[in-house]
Amino acid sequence: MKVLVIGATGPTGRLVLERAQRAGDSVTALVRRPEALADLSSQITVLGGDPTAPADLATAMIGQDVVISTLGRGRSMGPTDLFSRAAAALVSAAEQTGTTRVVWLSSFGAGDTYPSSTPVQKIMYSTFLRSVYADKTASERLLRASDLDLTLVYPTTLTHKPGKGTYRSGEHVPMKGAPTISREDVAHFLHSAAAGPEWIRRDAIITD
Ligand SMILES: NC(=O)c1ccc[n+]([C@@H]2O[C@H](COP(=O)([O-])OP(=O)(O)OC[C@H]3O[C@@H](n4cnc5c(N)ncnc54)[C@H](OP(=O)(O)O)[C@@H]3O)[C@@H](O)[C@H]2O)c1
Repeated sequence: MKVLVIGATGPTGRLVLERAQRAGDSVTALVRRPEALADLSSQITVLGGDPTAPADLATAMIGQDVVISTLGRGRSMGPTDLFSRAAAALVSAAEQTGTTRVVWLSSFGAGDTYPSSTPVQKIMYSTFLRSVYADKTASERLLRASDLDLTLVYPTTLTHKPGKGTYRSGEHVPMKGAPTISREDVAHFLHSAAAGPEWIRRDAIITD
């Protein structure tokens, strides 16, 4: 498939690029800092630009089958509009280009998944992650109100551990305490969901 990744310089995004490239996909990354992907530039197309700017995104989306977003704020927990700006740009660029398939990495506890989170998770999500989650929730409202062929992906806490290749995924996944999932397994899910019809217009909670 022809896949565009935004947020591709982050740890999960890079794993998605590598997985897609190994699978034989035609891979494009739209990033603010192309130099950060210099080591991959002979294997994928790296476009410099702002993935939250509608014009840059529309240029990058022409001819793509699917967009995977792994945008994030790193360790920053302050107020942000990153996710809602990116979502608005994506909806506008999809209307312009006809590329409507989007797999969007969110976080378990954001949006509609908050009520099903555990008491421990609720404390994290409603205190130090509150600002980031508010923007994620706002972005999801924009995406859900659009005509996108959307998959919203809700992982639990991410780790840098090696992927297991086995994890739980579903619209409802029972959990206790504060479960985790490795970024490698998240990249596996994002790529698999993008490659097939199973998760189109469905939400996916994923966790160990
Ligand atoms: N940490 C966790 O436990 C956890 C749990 C569940 C879900 N998540 C979510 O998973 C996602 C991926 O997380 P991650 O740790 O792999 O990556 P990350 O470090 O959060 O993502 C950084 C990516 O977003 C881009 N980015 C940041 N600010 C930007 C801006 N203003 N404009 C354009 N691009 C911008 C970065 O580009 P530059 O390189 O140009 O800065 C980079 O490509 C995030 O949405 C995160 O919230 C995390």
